Amino acid sequence: MTNQLDQAKMEAFVGKVLGDSSAALTTTLAVLGDRLSLFKDLAAHGPATSGELATRAGINERYAREWLGGMATAGYLEYDPVSHRFTLPPEHAPALAQEGGPVFFGGIYQMMTGMTGVLDELTAAFRTGGGVPQSAYSTDMWDGLDRFTNGWFENLLIQQWIPAMPDVQTKLESGARVADVGCGSGRALIKLAQAFPQARYVGYDIFGPTIESATENARAAGVADRVRFARHDVSQGIPEQYDVITTFDVIHDAVDPLGLLRTIRRSLREDGMYVCLDINCSDKLQENQGPLGAMFYGFSVLYCMTTSLAGGGAGLGTLGFHEAKARELCAEAGFSKLRRVPLENPFNNLYEIRP
Ligand SMILES: C[S@@+](CC[C@H](N)C(=O)[O-])C[C@H]1O[C@@H](n2cnc3c(N)ncnc32)[C@H](O)[C@@H]1O
Repeated sequence: MTNQLDQAKMEAFVGKVLGDSSAALTTTLAVLGDRLSLFKDLAAHGPATSGELATRAGINERYAREWLGGMATAGYLEYDPVSHRFTLPPEHAPALAQEGGPVFFGGIYQMMTGMTGVLDELTAAFRTGGGVPQSAYSTDMWDGLDRFTNGWFENLLIQQWIPAMPDVQTKLESGARVADVGCGSGRALIKLAQAFPQARYVGYDIFGPTIESATENARAAGVADRVRFARHDVSQGIPEQYDVITTFDVIHDAVDPLGLLRTIRRSLREDGMYVCLDINCSDKLQENQGPLGAMFYGFSVLYCMTTSLAGGGAGLGTLGFHEAKARELCAEAGFSKLRRVPLENPFNNLYEIRP
């Protein structure tokens, strides 16, 4: 009987949908935990009853009790029925409480809040085409993105990525001129400027509010003497020549990815190097199956593809600049060599690209 319903398969799938729906609500409670610094409080001050957490974190006890119950039933916290105290296990703290750490999720939580804020505009775009422009997203999007990618720059950029590209490192050590295209709030350049003070840095971004944050971040970090930021659409060209140009998580959601790559090619000195960080994914949909692939598609619909389409752009999407596409577009833009730097990183690929 070919068209008979497989009961076990149906029930297993209902279980999966239940799990995913529950996970969405658990994540929403975790967003509140991040906003109110509840995980950070439990990590810093130890186990608490609802009353103790309420006092410590300055929140209402009834809300604290319900939130703690939700987080404990989801397995994020542990509950002791004798003392009525809730504990954040130390193994859970890196994901939930360690701001700037390599596996911290607070930035993703905040970014997701910013992304889901445009659901009405997104629904309309599904019907009529077009997209949702960057300006439609709340500051949660930009602050969340800043906190999210900051984890890469704090933990990987200087420690792993630059040492894996010795020629780039040599240039930075010997006073290179560096441009970061799509610099966002400037964290990558600030880290580079601290590690390689001889070099001179400029960050370009098309989106004004991030340039304001970047300028303030550089001033606060004490590197404003060697780092500057400018609002600019790089697909229209940049004025000077550089030894090193970087893009971190930029090409796949650009309106005109090829235009950006062409500008970068033209603006690199002949012995210069283009460092490109972008998404680690396959060009075959079936090989992207699983939670990370599903998360990438979520980011794509909620932001990456959609903001590109808003500008009448390519709309590559979060999974659209895989290694094969990177090779194709870089060749089309006039680069002759692309090396994928060997990394154990499920989220990102790093490419060292030469004219
Ligand atoms: C996903 S964000 C990444 C920001 C930053 N590099 C980071 O890692 O946090 C991509 C950035 O590229 C910028 N961008 C996209 N197209 C651009 C263009 N044509 N010129 C300059 N910036 C652009 C966007 O405004 C956005 O800030």
